[in-house]
Amino acid sequence: MDLAKYGPWALIVGGSEGAGADFARLLAADGFKLVLVARKPEPLAELASELRAKGAEVRAVPADLADPAVLARVRAATDDIEIGLLIYYAGANNTRGNFVELPEAVTQSVLQITVLGQANFTRHYGGLMAARGRGGIVLGGSLSSYLGSPTLAAYTGAKAFSRIFSEALWAEMKPMGVDVLHLNIGFTATPAMARLGMPVELAEPTATVAREGLENIANGPVWIISTPGNLERARMISGVEDRAETVLRHAIVPRDQTAAAARELQELAKEG
Ligand SMILES: NC(=O)c1ccc[n+]([C@@H]2O[C@H](COP(=O)([O-])OP(=O)(O)OC[C@H]3O[C@@H](n4cnc5c(N)ncnc54)[C@H](OP(=O)(O)O)[C@@H]3O)[C@@H](O)[C@H]2O)c1
Repeated sequence: MDLAKYGPWALIVGGSEGAGADFARLLAADGFKLVLVARKPEPLAELASELRAKGAEVRAVPADLADPAVLARVRAATDDIEIGLLIYYAGANNTRGNFVELPEAVTQSVLQITVLGQANFTRHYGGLMAARGRGGIVLGGSLSSYLGSPTLAAYTGAKAFSRIFSEALWAEMKPMGVDVLHLNIGFTATPAMARLGMPVELAEPTATVAREGLENIANGPVWIISTPGNLERARMISGVEDRAETVLRHAIVPRDQTAAAARELQELAKEG
């Protein structure tokens, strides 16, 4: 990763475990200094120690992205340094239910983390990058950004926002010297998914997500992780016609059907 274009500091929001930790390891190996943000202090401290032992300078910021004051908290740890790379990769969904029946706090948190969070962090750090004429922004995305799924209305809607927002930003910021990428992933083997009891043995390793994200930062606005089946699914669910049929047939399945769906995706990939 080009330290002169995207350094000297990278801010990884969601940078304690899963793909966020892999981003941090890859960037530290390339000489980046790191600011890591996540809620649980222990995994954050553990990763920071691991990276410091390898010579990296690291600031760890325990903070909750659902808190509307989170940007101020993170800024307190970054206002004296140059963030040349923002990776915003947090906000997996762990609560499903009909939108009108879920507690308001659940859906507000989804919108705060993915919609307002991505917008607010991008405005602040992207503005500073534009003033310097260089930098990069990677926003965490999902194949679910192509299709509204029942019981996941706020989550799938928020991911759609992220993808469309990234596309517009990509075009706006390219002439400013700043690369923007919506990193679009499918089912990925993260600790968050494992804690939900999902069959992570069938999922993409997080190291692939981080490596492809960094390698393709200049190939925006959207990069779909190259796992067989991802591109085929994106094509299948993103057409403009027959939306009713598409939603009814291809929405994200309930968690106990995830393994069967992952296998079906692998078959789809084999058929090309
Ligand atoms: N895993 C998948 O199959 C999958 C599929 C499609 C898209 N995605 C997207 O990929 C991203 C990462 O998902 P993930 O599965 O790794 O789970 P995740 O729960 O988003 O966790 C990723 C990182 O973010 C931190 N984090 C989560 N919620 C946070 C919050 N409210 N405030 C601050 N930090 C927070 C986590 O640490 P703490 O828990 O300690 O805060 C962890 O370091 C999400 O945007 C998700 O929507 C994931």
